[in-house]
Amino acid sequence: MIPQEVLDRIIDALDIVEVVSEYVQLKKTGRNFKACCPFHNEKTPSFVVSPEKQIYHCFGCSAGGNAIGFIMKQENISFPEAVEKAAARAGIELPRYRVEDKQKASLAGQLYEINQFATVFYQNFLRSEKGKKALDYLKKRGFSGEILTKFKIGYAPDEWEALKKHCEKKKIAPMLLRKAGLTIPSEKGKGDYDRFRNRIIFPIFNERDNVLGFGGRVMDDSLPKYINSPETAVYTKGNVLYGMNFSKRGIRDKGFVVITEGYMDVIIPSQYGIDNTVAASGTALTPRQVGMLKKYTDTAIMVFDADQAGEAASLRGLDLLIEEGVKVRIATLPEGEDPDSFIRKNGPEKFTEQITSAKDLFDYKLDLLIKKLGKRDIGGITDEMLPTISRVNNMVVKSGYLKTLAERLDIHEESLRCEMNKVKKDYSYHYAEEAKVVPTSKNYRNSEIHLLGLAVSDKALCSKIKKELGFDKFRDGNIKTVISIVDELFAKGEKEINPGKLISRFREGKDERDAITQAVAKAEITQDAEKALRECMTCVRKENKEEELKELTQRLKEAQRNKNNDEINELVSKIAGVHKEKAA
Ligand code: GTP
Ligand code: MN
Repeated sequence: MIPQEVLDRIIDALDIVEVVSEYVQLKKTGRNFKACCPFHNEKTPSFVVSPEKQIYHCFGCSAGGNAIGFIMKQENISFPEAVEKAAARAGIELPRYRVEDKQKASLAGQLYEINQFATVFYQNFLRSEKGKKALDYLKKRGFSGEILTKFKIGYAPDEWEALKKHCEKKKIAPMLLRKAGLTIPSEKGKGDYDRFRNRIIFPIFNERDNVLGFGGRVMDDSLPKYINSPETAVYTKGNVLYGMNFSKRGIRDKGFVVITEGYMDVIIPSQYGIDNTVAASGTALTPRQVGMLKKYTDTAIMVFDADQAGEAASLRGLDLLIEEGVKVRIATLPEGEDPDSFIRKNGPEKFTEQITSAKDLFDYKLDLLIKKLGKRDIGGITDEMLPTISRVNNMVVKSGYLKTLAERLDIHEESLRCEMNKVKKDYSYHYAEEAKVVPTSKNYRNSEIHLLGLAVSDKALCSKIKKELGFDKFRDGNIKTVISIVDELFAKGEKEINPGKLISRFREGKDERDAITQAVAKAEITQDAEKALRECMTCVRKENKEEELKELTQRLKEAQRNKNNDEINELVSKIAGVHKEKAA
């Protein structure tokens, strides 16, 4: 491991603009420099280099970092190799280490060790008296003892300092725990406390079985459902695919990977012998993750429930895979089911059937659009299909797709080709489009995050949200807290909110921090703020109505059980009312 001090010296000595210019033609725009991103295919520049901040960032593929990171990515070399190059450039001599020392001294090695230690600690707790409730929960969800051991699942007790105290006894440096994201410094300097409390613990592994971080799930319906480790020296969310360590062999043997959304959707299939799944953990795939997959296979089967797969917008993120030359197929499960629930209900054979009958993304999307828009809406269909097809690098495959599309729509192939040349491969456009919300329950958090971003960006938008929606409609407590603070700041006369400062109001590792960064990034790529505001508010309102309906239905069941006719009548008309409002 190279000492931080040396890295700092290298970064200080280099100018990122100079470094990047060696590979990319930069154009000055205002305080920054712009170019077409070298890391993804685009025609309009969304790659920005900031000489002030000494960082680069691509608004399209969200690659970003400092000069060393750029060299690493651009040359496709390891971090130490990139440091070596950068140091040579900057004329700085690197200290030399013996290999063993390097291993021991490296922060990464230490973090792996402490994570391993914590994993065992949580595993032991799951099997202890205090873990009984957690074990019952897992058993009820169908986890076998064997699978708990395989995935090293554990339980963090309902205490503030259990792990911390245990580590004190073992003379483990508190700072190390903090660097691993396992503890959080308390505000008033009263020492640290455990991040994970009263949660089921899922260790997150890299391909070589090292534990990089953890996901912690509540055992009831409270929010947030999951807390994850913050980014650390060894854990970067977008660099990991959950389950890769267990599935890589299965993926290679079967010749394809099944991509799911959550921890449970890797673990339960594995218990039933399905050994080639991974999860992207609730987010869109990053280029890095796609790169990892490509080492093992060129075919990915995405599993969606009927609701998600029924929206062309939710398929757009998959264009990244296409661009990387991965064949993408879509498997659908009945609405509301995920692989975990589906397999437990129907067994692994039925799941395998769904997987083998997965449709090619191209066919899937085209059928979906024709069904939705009708064959006559050629513009609507080509608007969705051409960006996908344009990302196919294999000319033969591309021609085939164009031919099929022309045939299905009864138009000339030549005119399609013309249209396709106009298609922008600009990702920022797509991301902004993606931010467009489809009102389903999974999206309420997205919408709330988006609204927060809009509120931070503009006082007028903030007060609009307050007036037209009301902050108490927000279901995510963290987002509610932050937006209220933003509103207060504006009320106190603040003209503009500085996100950096806003973040610093929350401690390292707090979920509010993540919410703010996500929100600001979302708002940054929003093209039509007013429109996004309306759409997001609609989604949140809808979600609130759903909630209301759930509660009323519950009460109705109760009333029916008690044969209370007056109440039944009242509730039925209330429910009808909410349905009507919802439809409006
Ligand atoms: P179960 O509800 O227990 O079946 O879990 P799940 O994994 O199926 O959850 P879900 O489908 O709701 O979410 C899919 C994935 O998104 C999860 O496995 C998590 O990785 C991630 N996720 C879901 N909710 C949260 C959350 O509140 N916070 C964070 N950080 N991640 C979440
Ligand atoms: Mn689930």
